[in-house]
Amino acid sequence: MTGDGPAGPVRTGVVTLTRPAGAFDVVSLSVPAGPDWAAARPGQFLVVPGDPGRGDALPGLHWLADVSVDPVHGTVVEVAVPVGDGWDLGHRLRLVGPLGRGFGVPTDAVPALVVGHGGSTVPLRWLVARLRARGCTVHVVLSADDPDEHFEVASLRRLAASVRLTTEQELGRVATTVLELESRIGVVYAAGPRVSVRRVAQAAVAAGRPARVSALDLAEPLLCGTGLCGQCDLEVDRDAGGRSLRPCLEGPVVPGEQVLDASR
Ligand code: FES
Repeated sequence: MTGDGPAGPVRTGVVTLTRPAGAFDVVSLSVPAGPDWAAARPGQFLVVPGDPGRGDALPGLHWLADVSVDPVHGTVVEVAVPVGDGWDLGHRLRLVGPLGRGFGVPTDAVPALVVGHGGSTVPLRWLVARLRARGCTVHVVLSADDPDEHFEVASLRRLAASVRLTTEQELGRVATTVLELESRIGVVYAAGPRVSVRRVAQAAVAAGRPARVSALDLAEPLLCGTGLCGQCDLEVDRDAGGRSLRPCLEGPVVPGEQVLDASR
């Protein structure tokens, strides 16, 4: 990766704060100002290049949990890392980002459904806050393999009209139930493992609602996150002959229709 390559500039971030959040530490990084931070959206991510000398062969990919741009206090981005991952105060690291296409918010204040699983829910508190700022009523459905992996649920409960907790296998069914109960919901968002995201997209399409979903699962170890390796590719549009979708480059957020028949 080079400083001004297509993947985005390499920057240095400095850890200025960490706070516990269940199974995660939320890490605040002070980064150099840039217009791409001001335009950053939930659903975008950072790549921390691997450092084979320290035993990190693979890059680290991290969802942006929040970005704040302040002319006085500077630009601070938040990511969530597993508890005790060694991101201590003052730690300096190289990073590339913000990368990818994030979740947009509707132009009108329509009610929204937000669905997510486990660590993929890191961007959702920020997304729900943006939806609320737009005037949208928000309903949330979450699942996690471990209760400690529910990310910032207390904040979500303050922001959302409803928060339902369920299992990963039930996400699609519960999304269908919410769409039946809340007939005014005009858009569905989903983030999680591909199979779960596909189920939610299927529920949204069956209910006639547009969906925006993350087609990248950062719980998987990924080789690059910058469009170079092809590891994240999905085969989509198989009824129409098939094509390859590279989520880290074309997404990660894509229309739900694109993942309905994805290969995995
Ligand atoms: S992770 Fe390498 S191309 Fe997407």
